[in-house]
Amino acid sequence: MKFKNLSHEQLVRIIDFVKETHSYMDAEKCVESALYRVSEILGTELGSIMLLDEASKQLFIKKAKGFNGEIAKNTRVNVGDGIAGWVAMTGEPLLIRDLAKDRRFGKFKKKETKRYSTDSLLSAPLKIKDKVIGVVNVNNKRTKRIFGKKDVDIIMLLSDHIALAIQNAVAFEEAKRQAKLKLDFISNVSHELKNPLAIVREAIALMIDGVTGKAKKDQARILEIAITNIDRLRRLLDSLLDLAKLEAGKATIRRAYIDLKKLIEDSVEFIKIPAKKKSIKVKVKYSIKDSKIWADYDKITQVVSNLLSNAVKFTPGKGKIEIRVEQQEEKVLISVEDSGAGIKKDDLNKLFNRFERVGTSSKKAEGLGLGLAICKEIVDIHRGEIWAESRLHYGSCFNFLLPKDLRKDVRI
Ligand SMILES: Nc1ncnc2c1ncn2[C@@H]1O[C@H](COP(=O)(O)OP(=O)(O)OP(=O)(O)O)[C@@H](O)[C@H]1O
Ligand SMILES: [Mg+2]
Repeated sequence: MKFKNLSHEQLVRIIDFVKETHSYMDAEKCVESALYRVSEILGTELGSIMLLDEASKQLFIKKAKGFNGEIAKNTRVNVGDGIAGWVAMTGEPLLIRDLAKDRRFGKFKKKETKRYSTDSLLSAPLKIKDKVIGVVNVNNKRTKRIFGKKDVDIIMLLSDHIALAIQNAVAFEEAKRQAKLKLDFISNVSHELKNPLAIVREAIALMIDGVTGKAKKDQARILEIAITNIDRLRRLLDSLLDLAKLEAGKATIRRAYIDLKKLIEDSVEFIKIPAKKKSIKVKVKYSIKDSKIWADYDKITQVVSNLLSNAVKFTPGKGKIEIRVEQQEEKVLISVEDSGAGIKKDDLNKLFNRFERVGTSSKKAEGLGLGLAICKEIVDIHRGEIWAESRLHYGSCFNFLLPKDLRKDVRI
């Protein structure tokens, strides 16, 4: 066993290193913390984490410890050149016990300035599978002892984690950057479209009201269709903007101690009229002692309202809708069940994708296919879960589970 000789203290430090390194969603902080902890674990004076610039095939120093800042900033190493360049080229670790006596790399000892001096060093590749993305270097043991074989095993273990954590943090940052670009684009487009749409809508509404002369029956019908479609376009713009905001992390949860009973009553109020028109019975059942939870009132209202409006839309006349609120340990389960069209088993996991409309219902054409995608984003930022159960032709049940005590303000 490679690590049987590790001290208890070293093991604890390695476990802390693994936990912390993977917790960052910011590459800069991830690298900084990884370098600090690697130096601690190996007890070194100097160290650096270099990343590979794919375009120039050069390594640059992302973070250095104990070096002069200027040296660190200006250092560029070609793959294949020098110590780090050799490690990046071969993908193998390199242990040099005494740099001055090393036949291949001894010449680098002479280049050193008074500001830093390397005696013993250890370099390891940062690899994702077989691809090198950088190099981690540590120089000089604080105890003046030289690096040994055990240190190579340790640095190889640590470097695997560093590489993976950096890759994840970079991917997360890129996803955020893309989401921000998308949000800016959608915000501009929706702003530019909404003004002329409002003017067109107003003009058509005036024509329906007879301001330009009484419209004939057929003309009035066509104008009504135009209004319906303008409203649909406005909803589409609002939904796209909602989704883009949620994705870009702009939609921070406004956490409050909210009463689910009140929230559900408010949401049911909105669907009472369309439900009555279709003679659909709406029932609410609470199996919960305390209906108060920490959540964002408006956002959870949006989820419940979307689920209720779907239930009304996809349930034929004289059907039933039941809303249930149940306590599940530290969580609360909210279910919206209907006796409507139902959903095919194969379609159940597609529903939460954007622009997804399934089945053959004529109602399908009316929707945008964004409601459930928005519900999922909102439930996700509340650290909850949402899913659907259904039997085709018998009805569907949409459930979401929320933690009762979401104490921290969460930003995605
Ligand atoms: N209660 C339900 N019963 C049957 N099918 C449903 C139900 N809820 C949703 N669906 C199916 O899932 C699809 C996606 O629902 P979603 O709410 O995302 O979009 P939508 O209602 O069509 O449009 P909108 O963006 O206006 O909400 C629907 O088009 C429908 O096919
Ligand atoms: Mg919907």
